[in-house]
Amino acid sequence: MNAPARSTTGVRAPGRAEITARTLRTDLWWRPPLLTTLGLAVFVVYATIRSFVRTAYWVDEYHYLTPFYSPCVSASCVPGSTHFGVWFGELPMWIPLAFLSLPFLLGFRLTCYYYRKAYYRSIWQSPTACAVAEPRAHYTGETRLPLILQNSHRYFFYVALVVSAINTYDAVLAFHGSTGGFGFGLGNVIITANVILLWAYTVSCHSCRHVTGGRLKHFSAHPVRYRLWTWVSRLNTRHMQLAWTTLGTLMLTDFYIMLVASGTISDLRFVN
Ligand code: FES
Repeated sequence: MNAPARSTTGVRAPGRAEITARTLRTDLWWRPPLLTTLGLAVFVVYATIRSFVRTAYWVDEYHYLTPFYSPCVSASCVPGSTHFGVWFGELPMWIPLAFLSLPFLLGFRLTCYYYRKAYYRSIWQSPTACAVAEPRAHYTGETRLPLILQNSHRYFFYVALVVSAINTYDAVLAFHGSTGGFGFGLGNVIITANVILLWAYTVSCHSCRHVTGGRLKHFSAHPVRYRLWTWVSRLNTRHMQLAWTTLGTLMLTDFYIMLVASGTISDLRFVN
């Protein structure tokens, strides 16, 4: 029987060890990719459904707006939720009300260095794990379409900063009492915690690290940028944890607002 043709790249390339087994690992190497797939699937399904249903996304009494509908800038948004005004007419049901931010947030997360690692292993299978051969014979990394588009991450980062500022504005407006003036409830705690964590995730981005400390020859000549880079670098070591935590807090914030907006539960108020 003839030996299969060897490709010039990848694990079957000349010069690589000739091992026919896909891997010699005996541990549960498949478990982390599987858990990653399940975790990402839960978020994608939840976020997709919630972004399109157009119900229970605004609590008029306390001015709670879910992040999945921010900014809401069309005539289809319920009165009060248009914090930045009405820029567009009625939108068809297949366009999410937060269509201005969601594609950029999706792009930001999809091109994130951590998520790349996560879905390259779990979904793209390139490679599935250390010392586990990928199913494809050829490996081109991020040198060709579509993966070369990952280089756009730094631009998504700039838009993500704007969206984080919008979420912050929404969170400030949510300190609203039932009779006007200042009010404060459990919803505020959840919304504010989510915004703080979103900032932490955004600022811990590798692109932010480059923006603050990259392309410098001498840190000693740029003490402010060095200090910023030090802070960002410290946060950057927690980027994976922040990536997962913010997926959770986004769903939790939306879910809580959905329950209050639909009348399923009442907001726990500390100051009315
Ligand atoms: Fe993850 Fe930029 S590297 S958000």
